[in-house]
Amino acid sequence: MTTTNSVFIATSLDGYIADRHGGIDWLHATPNPNGSDLGYGVFMSGSDALVMGRNTFETVCGFDGPWPYEQPVFVLSNRLLQIPPEYADKAKLVQGPLPEVLAQLHRLGHRSLYIDGGRTIQAFLREDLIDELIVTRLPILLGGGIPLFGDLPEHLDWTHVSTRVWLDALVQSHYRRVRKGVPRVC
Ligand SMILES: NC(=O)c1ccc[n+]([C@@H]2O[C@H](COP(=O)([O-])OP(=O)(O)OC[C@H]3O[C@@H](n4cnc5c(N)ncnc54)[C@H](OP(=O)(O)O)[C@@H]3O)[C@@H](O)[C@H]2O)c1
Repeated sequence: MTTTNSVFIATSLDGYIADRHGGIDWLHATPNPNGSDLGYGVFMSGSDALVMGRNTFETVCGFDGPWPYEQPVFVLSNRLLQIPPEYADKAKLVQGPLPEVLAQLHRLGHRSLYIDGGRTIQAFLREDLIDELIVTRLPILLGGGIPLFGDLPEHLDWTHVSTRVWLDALVQSHYRRVRKGVPRVC
């Protein structure tokens, strides 16, 4: 059965997912009078579970309002010993090499995974474990911060699936990994 690891993320024009202080207020600066979800609902409806880095988990824990996910959340951390008790029914800790983490989640029946967090996405990309990239570019230059992309051991080719402009301002492009007949190994 196929498995898919997808990224759905917003960046500045210069490729940052958070500013130098980890801030993400700029993500909400574009007027959105009708409360468009920018395709997030459709994307989430196709996701079985989330895998996020500890930093993103801690950001989400700091959000006002109810817990934002219906799907199970798996938090990558080598430092956390356990998920804080107040989130124990919402998130689980996972550790180890990414192929082993993925195998564990597949055994649990989670096959369409939403991968979130800058360092986390970069780690998945370094091992060529991302299949879909949906990147929404916002019209701002942050000049520094947490980058979406980092160094890779080799080129990774993608095919363009679609591009959509939201709110006359946000350019959302969907790319699919092209592996030239070589399937992903896990
Ligand atoms: N623009 C957007 O759409 C968007 C989306 C998501 C997040 N963000 C922002 O991005 C920031 C978080 O991104 P980030 O790059 O700092 O971190 P991250 O990927 O969320 O978390 C990194 C942490 O995950 C843990 N980890 C364990 N195994 C890992 C592995 N194999 N690969 C990578 N990480 C692993 C490590 O935690 P330990 O140190 O505990 O071992 C590492 O320090 C936050 O400011 C968040 O608000 C923005």
